[in-house]
Amino acid sequence: MNVTVRGRTRHYRTVSFDAAKNQVRLIEQRLLPHAFKVVGTRDFRATAVAVRDMVVRGAGAIGATAAYGLAQGARAFRGKDLAKFQAHVEVVFQTLKEARPTAVDPVNAMLDVRRAMSAGTTVAEQQALALAAAAHFADEDVAHCEAIGQHGAKLIRDGMRVLTHCNAGWLAFVDIGTATAPMYAAQAAGRQFHVFCDETRPRSQGATLTAWELAQQGVSHQIIADNAAGFLMWRGEIDLVIVGSDRTLGRTGEVANKIGTYTKAVLAKRHGIPFYVAIPRSTIDWQMKSGRGIPIEERSENEVLGAWGVVARQKEKGERQKSGERAYVRVANPTSGARNPGFDVTPPELITGIITPEGIFKPGELWKHRRKLGGPK
Ligand code: MRU
Repeated sequence: MNVTVRGRTRHYRTVSFDAAKNQVRLIEQRLLPHAFKVVGTRDFRATAVAVRDMVVRGAGAIGATAAYGLAQGARAFRGKDLAKFQAHVEVVFQTLKEARPTAVDPVNAMLDVRRAMSAGTTVAEQQALALAAAAHFADEDVAHCEAIGQHGAKLIRDGMRVLTHCNAGWLAFVDIGTATAPMYAAQAAGRQFHVFCDETRPRSQGATLTAWELAQQGVSHQIIADNAAGFLMWRGEIDLVIVGSDRTLGRTGEVANKIGTYTKAVLAKRHGIPFYVAIPRSTIDWQMKSGRGIPIEERSENEVLGAWGVVARQKEKGERQKSGERAYVRVANPTSGARNPGFDVTPPELITGIITPEGIFKPGELWKHRRKLGGPK
């Protein structure tokens, strides 16, 4: 995706790897849309912290980060003892896996890397295979998003108003995104449409990240409060919903995605509006048998009780914070606590279709198409 910062346009990937420094390179998403910065993680533990603290977030992006993080950890091992090396790789795997539990992409990505490594017979061979496999995962993520765009673009016709939730854009993947891929493909085909970005409290990924991406890309859009979607649907001002997913169950078609997705799916059903979920193969969990088993991340109550942003106006003389400084503002009643589940689960009967790199399927058809979607026999 091209980013224009201070008048200069350059192509960036959300996640990349600096082999010479053995660092994972990440766009620092907590600073967006107010500042654009790329950071490097010095070791696999720092990479896990970057995932946990959401320097990088979004299913495919943390998948690629985990894949590179595993390669980074493997490459940092000194010595030739294969058994010790494998024990070390297991520690790296678990550390990265625990950083964020709901999305399945990190686990799927790291299993890909470990499978590729097993073809090596020495530590050095396995280290080289790890990096090649991580780079392959990242490239495949981009290719999957591109294919999702080709399949999904036909859903967006001239004049449509499309709702999306959270950020399943290029910042949530290595490039292009999933929910945004059909939008970018429709734009490239010359179609005119308008996107409503749900603000997506409590972390506001819609208001900050999706809106920034769409602005960078020149897509017509507006941010709406999370509570506004039902009213706009009732007024006939939303024609289509496309969201991403952090874990989609291949056996049942249930979709875990950012908190608030389920509510939007219920509303879309009520108003007869098509509701699509766009995913790469790495988001599919082929093992789990029920959405009730998905580990739903409970995040800090501070996210609900307040908000991060930048100071908008010049402060009076003598005050410490200057305009443009990043700040946390407490909004809620000081003596109240909060509950903060990060994700919810949408049942298949509320979903019109799943846009995959291999085509658009009914949620209940994923299992039937598992071979072409990279699932089990
Ligand atoms: O908590 P986040 O920002 O990592 O959540 C992930 C998401 O952005 C969404 O749930 C998204 O819609 C799916 S990830 C491609």
